Amino acid sequence: MKIFLFLVYIYLWDVSWCQYDEYDSHWWLTYLHSQQYSYGQSYDYEPFPAPVSASDCPRECECPPNYPTAMYCDARNLKYLPYMPARIKYAYFQNNHISEIPDGVFDNATGLVWLALHGNQIISDKVGRKIFLKLRVLERLYMQNNNLTRIPSGLPRSLKELHLSSNQISRVQSNSLEGLENLTALYLHENQIQDVGGTLKGLKSLVHLDISNNHLRKLPDSLPNSLEQIYLEYNHLSNVPVEYFKTYPNLQYVRISHNRLTNDGIPGNTFNTSSLVELDLSFNQLNRIPPVNTNLQHLYLQGNRIEEFSVKSFCTLVDISTFSQLQILRLEGNKIKPNVIPPDTPLCLRKADIIHM
Ligand SMILES: *[C@@H]1O[C@H](CO)[C@@H](O)[C@H](O)[C@H]1NC(C)=O
Ligand SMILES: *[C@@H]1O[C@H](CO)[C@@H](O)[C@H](O)[C@H]1NC(C)=O
Ligand SMILES: *[C@@H]1O[C@H](CO)[C@@H](O)[C@H](O)[C@H]1NC(C)=O
Ligand SMILES: *[C@@H]1O[C@H](CO)[C@@H](O)[C@H](O)[C@H]1NC(C)=O
Repeated sequence: MKIFLFLVYIYLWDVSWCQYDEYDSHWWLTYLHSQQYSYGQSYDYEPFPAPVSASDCPRECECPPNYPTAMYCDARNLKYLPYMPARIKYAYFQNNHISEIPDGVFDNATGLVWLALHGNQIISDKVGRKIFLKLRVLERLYMQNNNLTRIPSGLPRSLKELHLSSNQISRVQSNSLEGLENLTALYLHENQIQDVGGTLKGLKSLVHLDISNNHLRKLPDSLPNSLEQIYLEYNHLSNVPVEYFKTYPNLQYVRISHNRLTNDGIPGNTFNTSSLVELDLSFNQLNRIPPVNTNLQHLYLQGNRIEEFSVKSFCTLVDISTFSQLQILRLEGNKIKPNVIPPDTPLCLRKADIIHM
């Protein structure tokens, strides 16, 4: 009885306020209806009461009344995308069994800002060429862990983050990333990419690029000047073109561990670049420590074939004011004999923790 009175009270309260808050009134009415239905009718396929949802919410999904722009359809064994109400800005379809995205499914949701489709089985041949046509404000697209073999076409130019890792992408088509001037993060790791060519050049805002765990044999032809972090570990890279990293003034973090780099493949001052803060060259085939800039703070060289500890790689000149900023130097798993750190090392590497055993 008390519950009944409470509901009546809520109902009256709600109706009296509905002109001010149309959305909430919808929710309470739907709530009341769903209560009635769940006792009056039997839903043999649904053992729990239906989730509280707005009336325009697809019944497979949940649209929480306190987040009227979000729709949760994740982990529900969905095989197809449900329809999308126009008010939705954040849509979550991850961890289902969706393999197909036909043209038109997102046409109503023109205000979509985040779209999560990761952890499905989406295949490139079943992704419509016009699915993104109306999504002019989409900022984050999550499509990692799917069965994509290429980058979806017609990506919205408003994108800031693009997640495509753990797919089966082997080629980056020449125009697939065209016009994405606001993209700051691109995740392509765990694919089968052999070459990205010049496709990254136009990404004027790109800060973070992850192409680790692919089949790259050569570095991208060019990188955006805005880039700060590049992750290339677990590829098949054996060389870095002369002056390659010199041309990118903002590059701070470079990871190329677990590749096939040799000293012949990294001529002279390849990594002597003043912007670098962290350089990971571990698990390659280097037999000498490459020259690095005095600004470098972290250098990872473990798991190579380095035979000699050369202070000259860090400081060409040592005096009171010139010394290396290096804080961490890892050299374990090389061929350097213990106790052969040269006596002038502490003058140059004043701040470094050297791990070499
Ligand atoms: C778009 O909205 C209309 C009207 O609400 C609806 O009938 C239609 O099914 C929606 N289409 C999609 C693809 O969601
Ligand atoms: C997606 O890939 C997984 C694993 O490779 C496979 O089991 C599944 O059948 C694929 N799905 C489709 C729709 O091709
Ligand atoms: C890129 O970002 C700027 C600043 O947030 C915004 O004004 C502009 O509309 C965005 N470009 C696109 C194509 O959405
Ligand atoms: C790095 O390059 C600068 C000039 O840009 C040079 O003065 C310095 O000696 C080089 N460092 C090493 C370790 O070769």
